[in-house]
Amino acid sequence: MERYHNIVVLTGAGLSAESGLGTFRGPGGLWENFRIEDVATPEGFARDPVLVHGFYNLRRSWHKKARPNAAHLALARLEREHGNVLTVTQNIDALHEAAGTKNLIPMHGELERALCAACGVSAPWTEDLSIETLCQACGAAAMRPDVVWFGEMPREMERIDEALGACDLFISIGTSGTVYPAAGFVMEARAAGAHAVELNLEPSDGADLFLERIEGPATEIVPAYVERLLCTRP
Ligand code: OAD
Repeated sequence: MERYHNIVVLTGAGLSAESGLGTFRGPGGLWENFRIEDVATPEGFARDPVLVHGFYNLRRSWHKKARPNAAHLALARLEREHGNVLTVTQNIDALHEAAGTKNLIPMHGELERALCAACGVSAPWTEDLSIETLCQACGAAAMRPDVVWFGEMPREMERIDEALGACDLFISIGTSGTVYPAAGFVMEARAAGAHAVELNLEPSDGADLFLERIEGPATEIVPAYVERLLCTRP
């Protein structure tokens, strides 16, 4: 394996599957039982905030019980021992943080935070939200989960684009490659000359865009890949 200096890791729901959290697509996926338009768009929230709060309250209760798995821990180790790693996650479950990853961008927001739609203040939040929950900053009953919905801008895109433009290794883990802008990161990294590797249970929608692919459960293939990387670091 070559030696890499600047690494960007992109993660998706497949990384947390073995922590007991469901993925979105495929058999048994969350989007089989809920419609994206109803629970993951600003329009859906405006139409039926009670339904949307219920959906995220349920997910928050699952997240509270979940623990980081061997793949999250291996990525935290990669950051610690390599040094120059940015992890960008589409997950809102806080398991990277729990594993010890520090240089992290939760591009789709964080379920354990609540955002006031009236004043824009975001605060840590571990309890259920409802249409009656009051903002602790301004008092308005306008709280929503601090997550990114379809049609909204993912977090810190400028910093992500900059890192992709400067990376020499891009690793995509546990994501189906169906949701943009994350699905386009591989092309940005390759345009910068990076090696691109996909670690996933099965080929993603964008699998052909990767130069290397390793298939299997994240808890097996991620620790093994990290071990290989660290053994060959400069
Ligand atoms: P998906 O559910 O679309 O894809 C999960 C991927 O993980 C699939 O390709 C699975 O094959 C793979 N997978 C499942 N179990 C795995 C395991 N144990 N080890 C390795 N891979 C495994 O989830 P995402 O790609 O993360 O956005 O979805 C992207 C976005 O779509 C989410 O952030 C969410 C969703 O709608 C919003 O809600 C804005």
